[in-house]
Amino acid sequence: MCGIVGYVGPRPVQPLLIGGLRRLEYRGYDSAGMAILEEVGVEITRKAGRVADLESELEGRISNGTTGIGHTRWATHGAPNTTNAHPHADCAGSVAVVHNGIIENWADLKADLIEAGHLFRSETDTEVVAHLIEDRADLPLDEAVREAMRLAEGALALAVVRNDEPELIVGARRGSPLVIGLGDGENFLASDIPAFLEYTRRMAVLDDDRIVAVRPGGITISDLSGTIVEPVTREIEWDLDSAEKGGFPDFMLKEIFEQPKAIRDTLRGRLDSDGLVRLLELELDVEIARSFDKVFVVACGTSFHAAMMAKYAIERWTRLPVEIDIASEFRYRDPILDGNTLVVGISQSGETLDTLAAVRYARAQGAKLIAVTNVVDSAMAREADAVLYTRAGPEIGVAATKTFTTQLIAMQLLALWLAHARGSLDDAVIQNAVKAMFALPDQVEEVLRQSDGIREMSEQWTDRRDFFFLGRSAAFPVAMEGALKLKEIAYLRAEGYPAGEMKHGPIALIEEGVVVIGVATNSHVKGKMLSNMQEMRARSGTILLVLTEGDTEGEAVADEVIFVPWAPELLSPVTAVVPLQLLAYWLAKQRGLDVDKPRNLAKTVTVE
Ligand code: M6R
Repeated sequence: MCGIVGYVGPRPVQPLLIGGLRRLEYRGYDSAGMAILEEVGVEITRKAGRVADLESELEGRISNGTTGIGHTRWATHGAPNTTNAHPHADCAGSVAVVHNGIIENWADLKADLIEAGHLFRSETDTEVVAHLIEDRADLPLDEAVREAMRLAEGALALAVVRNDEPELIVGARRGSPLVIGLGDGENFLASDIPAFLEYTRRMAVLDDDRIVAVRPGGITISDLSGTIVEPVTREIEWDLDSAEKGGFPDFMLKEIFEQPKAIRDTLRGRLDSDGLVRLLELELDVEIARSFDKVFVVACGTSFHAAMMAKYAIERWTRLPVEIDIASEFRYRDPILDGNTLVVGISQSGETLDTLAAVRYARAQGAKLIAVTNVVDSAMAREADAVLYTRAGPEIGVAATKTFTTQLIAMQLLALWLAHARGSLDDAVIQNAVKAMFALPDQVEEVLRQSDGIREMSEQWTDRRDFFFLGRSAAFPVAMEGALKLKEIAYLRAEGYPAGEMKHGPIALIEEGVVVIGVATNSHVKGKMLSNMQEMRARSGTILLVLTEGDTEGEAVADEVIFVPWAPELLSPVTAVVPLQLLAYWLAKQRGLDVDKPRNLAKTVTVE
């Protein structure tokens, strides 16, 4: 997730781009940059860090240019430094490109371009677009961009300027957002509405596989074959604050609803032509993968719940023994590690001190480290022998939501990759698991459609203070995560527990008024789970069950039910956790709480 802004018109473009980038900074803040069409040609300024750092870089340089593009970056390919900051240029410096998304076949395109004599300056996938356009210098810019779009695979939103067409920005879109702001004698292009809302409320959405030529006097939209498409325009009714949150009241709800896209991005480009998992960036030798005799997964908070889930997947598919550790406990228990041990650190931020200390300790004992993180080049990514990025995009709300579901997916991809490398699973089993993963984004969308129903259901529980979240097997981490969400944003007492363990003590707490939420989706122990829920019901608990669609047997045990689509047992946590995120969200809202900034918490915990 990155932010793009572009402007053509009569105004000086530099301050306008800075303002737009500030409004888009929520989409990424690893680096910022802009390209302005000056009389001498395209002038590019870039800087690692925030938009404020770019402003400092520009200090004293006042541009008269009135056409330009800007970018704020959330790194996906290449470290978040100035060299990898956008815009990227061709060899001659006459084309400038900004990009949001992932070009899946960038490595192949880059190899061809290098062979043809192009000189690359960055590690990004984006730079290939600048060189592809350079090769088509004889074509009008929109034609050149169209050809580049035909060659590039994956998700892209582009904005491109070229020396010889000083009053033109060409935009293109596939998968990543791009909207057009329509002004009077001036026009805008941006990843999101807040970038231009100050100047115009009239907009047009660019559909997938469309190219737009933006000039001061108007826009022309065409498809990949060059056929002109009539723009559909509308008036924006949002104020600036709700526009920044995409029309949602808070970042947390926005991020819950971003999960289908985030999961798609996590999966993107990670399959080979045989339908098997391909983790190019992992750069871990297959021989090393075969040498492991034990796995540890270390993490904190929500990331630890992803680790719990990973244990089931890695053990079932690779038959390697897996230990999971709360990172703050790990190094104090003198774990047994050596050169044949794989340690996986899971951390959204990659900066959590407890997790960093744990993985550093493991490496010092000779273990190999794979980091699973959302932040490119974060401290944990830099410590690791190999990195797998979750690609959820920036998460602003303190409560982890989309980063959790993408961690689940990333860990399953890793488990399947390990299984293939070690020959512990038939290809057909891997292919089936992968197929089921690709169905998840649509399934999560189906669950999200129940948000209003979950809000209404939760209204009956606004005066309840005690909640239990129960699950067995792969549903147990989901129960733990549901309880954590409720604690941290609604400040309600919530216990996550393995359902079968309740009879050994905690069942004494079940009485009228206690809400017991059971995750009883597809599982080989679902029958046992339902018996445990009967035991809670017999003690007068109020029972809410998360069930697979059509489960009438489960429905009979519950006071309330939420149905989710069927998924294989190890993938069902992805859909099952979404209603629990929504339940916590709505209960917190009913209590009038700030869900994005819950009390006593920080997004990244850098103390021990
Ligand atoms: O950045 P990390 O994944 O390492 O963060 C770990 C925990 O601090 C984090 O998951 C925390 O529990 C969240 N607030 C949960 O919503």
